[in-house]
Amino acid sequence: MLDPIEIAPNIWWVGAIDWNERNFHGYTTDRGSTYNAYLIVDEHITLIDTVKKSFFDEMVERISQVVDPSKIEYIVSQHVEQDHSSGLPRMLELVPNAKVYTSDPAGVTGLKAHFGDIFDFQPVKTGDELSTGKYTLQFIQTPMLHWPDSMATYLPEEKILFSMDAFGQHLSTSQRFDYEVDFNEIIIQASKYYANIVMPYGLMVSRTLKALADYEFNLICPSHGIIWKEHIGDIVALYDKWSSDQVEDYAIVIYDTMWHSTELIAKNILEAFVEKGVPARLFDLKYNHISDVITETLKAKYVAIGSPTLNNGMMPSVAAFLTYLKGLTPKSRKAIGIAFGSYGWSGQSVGMVEAEMKECGFEMPFGIFREQWVPSDEVLASVKKTISDGLDELRA
Ligand code: FEO
Repeated sequence: MLDPIEIAPNIWWVGAIDWNERNFHGYTTDRGSTYNAYLIVDEHITLIDTVKKSFFDEMVERISQVVDPSKIEYIVSQHVEQDHSSGLPRMLELVPNAKVYTSDPAGVTGLKAHFGDIFDFQPVKTGDELSTGKYTLQFIQTPMLHWPDSMATYLPEEKILFSMDAFGQHLSTSQRFDYEVDFNEIIIQASKYYANIVMPYGLMVSRTLKALADYEFNLICPSHGIIWKEHIGDIVALYDKWSSDQVEDYAIVIYDTMWHSTELIAKNILEAFVEKGVPARLFDLKYNHISDVITETLKAKYVAIGSPTLNNGMMPSVAAFLTYLKGLTPKSRKAIGIAFGSYGWSGQSVGMVEAEMKECGFEMPFGIFREQWVPSDEVLASVKKTISDGLDELRA
């Protein structure tokens, strides 16, 4: 087992590494994850968060290398979601008298709803402080990052922010700090994490960034992935960009196809963008997981979604993607949408895609492309011309 890591004087990472996690409630985690718990060895020994219960023994073994776990007096539970809290009931067996600091009221109600009224709850709000002896913990409620109960904790003496899910990445490594891991790999995982977990709550991210603007950070310690030390400015700037709905001149074309007619339209839409100098990527939903495709929507100014008509509706893969998109995409993001698809006789799918995209907040100035059977060369040329002319108008 990997040893605990002292990340600052008497402050230890004692979490767990989940090398084999591949699906986090529907989001593919190709590089596994970590559940970060932090131990403060002070006059009052304090544990910040626990881990998923299947990793409880691993966490306790790490704690035991630093202190006797039965000496823990305070537990800060920053988030009710079970990847961080399901180890709490077993922790209580080791330290039945420990006080559990959690957000008021959502942390208390959430923990009670999950595990019963079994803890010595100490509800805390933004601005409340806890002295562990030499160190101070200042609580900052961050509702909806990523649940109503979520909160962060700042330790001013070492300028450490325990940021909970915010700034996290599902990434399992033996290294704990950002400067030890390839930066691009971290950012790929951080952006996927933001798109799949945090994206609907951009307004709360902006508020939190404003609330934290006057703080100084030596370390930002999220609950998943590496600890930010050398790249704090980079990840804060990216959260600022992502939460303010800034998009780039980039097009993504997402589709499923039965007999390649919808795919023909998809490829011509892609070519239309590329010919106008807009970088573009094509995603067939048979081969690309929705949690990877959604990550591309973080920066795409143009999003085209296509489905043939199947049984008077959309392909199930496209319907699943649109359901996922509707739950995650911020309506404030003013991206341009295109709905397209081929049909044989009834042809409902394209209108359904269009309606869903409008509900997601897309503007759709190019209209829709709804073509019967196999689109001819003339039809495909007209699709390209419509997009090309539309881009010229947008840029005029
Ligand atoms: Fe990592 Fe919202 O839990």
